[in-house]
Amino acid sequence: MADLNTIASLCKRRGIIFLNSEIYGGLGSVWDYGPIGVELKNNVKRLWWKSMVYEREDIEGLDAAILMHPEVWKTSGHVSGFKDLLADCKNCKKRFRHDLLEKNVCPECGGELTEPRPFNLMFKTFVGSVESESSEVFLRPETAQGIFVNFKNVLVSSRKKLPFGIAQIGKAFRNEITTGNFTFRSREFEQMEMEYFTRPEESDKWFEYWIQERFSWYQRFGIKKENIRLRKHEREELAHYAKSCYDIEFLFPMGWSELEGIAHRTDFDLKQHSSVSGKSLSYFDEEKKGEITPHAIEPSGGVDRAVLAFLIDSYKDEKVRGEKRVVLELHKELAPIKVAVLPLLRNRPELVKMAKDIYRDLRGDYKVSYDDTASIGRLYRRQDEIGTLYCVTVDVESLDDKKVTVRDRDTMKQDRISVDMLKKYIEEKPK
Ligand code: GAP
Repeated sequence: MADLNTIASLCKRRGIIFLNSEIYGGLGSVWDYGPIGVELKNNVKRLWWKSMVYEREDIEGLDAAILMHPEVWKTSGHVSGFKDLLADCKNCKKRFRHDLLEKNVCPECGGELTEPRPFNLMFKTFVGSVESESSEVFLRPETAQGIFVNFKNVLVSSRKKLPFGIAQIGKAFRNEITTGNFTFRSREFEQMEMEYFTRPEESDKWFEYWIQERFSWYQRFGIKKENIRLRKHEREELAHYAKSCYDIEFLFPMGWSELEGIAHRTDFDLKQHSSVSGKSLSYFDEEKKGEITPHAIEPSGGVDRAVLAFLIDSYKDEKVRGEKRVVLELHKELAPIKVAVLPLLRNRPELVKMAKDIYRDLRGDYKVSYDDTASIGRLYRRQDEIGTLYCVTVDVESLDDKKVTVRDRDTMKQDRISVDMLKKYIEEKPK
């Protein structure tokens, strides 16, 4: 398995992920996605949305704002509970998460540490022109609360019956103290969350269902069986809102770590918001002829962690005819670029014209790239490193026989295909 430095250097070299504000030295644990990375990230989000919202009749989408009424975070328990215990070194002044310290001395300089103090992970800002306590708001640390406070709006407008879910993808922010490990723990990141509302007595069944569903989703898009596992939370690990929780863990280079959590949140959030806001967040159960508060099952995944896992899992470093080849064997639905069109000679106008015509013809259907800036060997290497499925080369013979060479990323097998059959050929390929 590739280490994180190898992945990070590939990401920078090939326009997948850059350090944020790099020309100013970077902002700690904040990352930008480049031209190739944004395609990969969009593909991850699109596939999640497709499997959650389009392919099911029981889930609706939502896009709530990042800023929310400050009461939301008091009621959800985040103001009082979303904290890490930190200790400061009295000597070098560095800060550490107390639960990760092996000894009660500074791991950097051996200095004496202060007593641990709670530190809230939410970022604060202000609404309006006056910076005072009453105008203080938070950048959301999870997207889930936007779903809970909109429960009634979605229920009434979509006329859904239990069980049903509300899915959302969006940015979340946490002022993380333990950072590092590339994008794994970022201060600004994206979540893909879904709250599945059920009758209380059916909630355990749906909890099991969503654990399995999400576990198989990652494997469907290429994560290898041996690199993914489920881990049940110990009682003392559980978040304040959860009755039970499973992590889907991926074998990252630093060890098994959380990719996604599936939590049984019971009726905690709906009941809390209802009691503090004074607004009903219940559901009229026609079978029971009465109001009930549904329970919520929450699969909550990180887009950035999924992108990182797909990158690590698909990375392959091999020797081909004595030369090193790096290839991302990404699933066809994830590959940032499906086809690259590569003219063999860039100083032959008729050859360039033919290649550009092919490029224009293909690009409406999927993301296609055109590159003539290096020798064919280098062009292939570039495309392999970003996981491009097919390279189409146009050569001198193409001008006469109207055929092109199509090279498969994984097998490197080449087929000679008639230009007018190219689209069909690519569409009919299994990947
Ligand atoms: N609503 C539940 C919730 O937020 P969480 O386990 O704190 O639960 C869910 O976060 C997912 O969000 C994690 O499994 C992870 O994929 C992602 N995530 C959390 N913190 C992150 C961070 N600092 N950087 C990147 N992804 C993060």
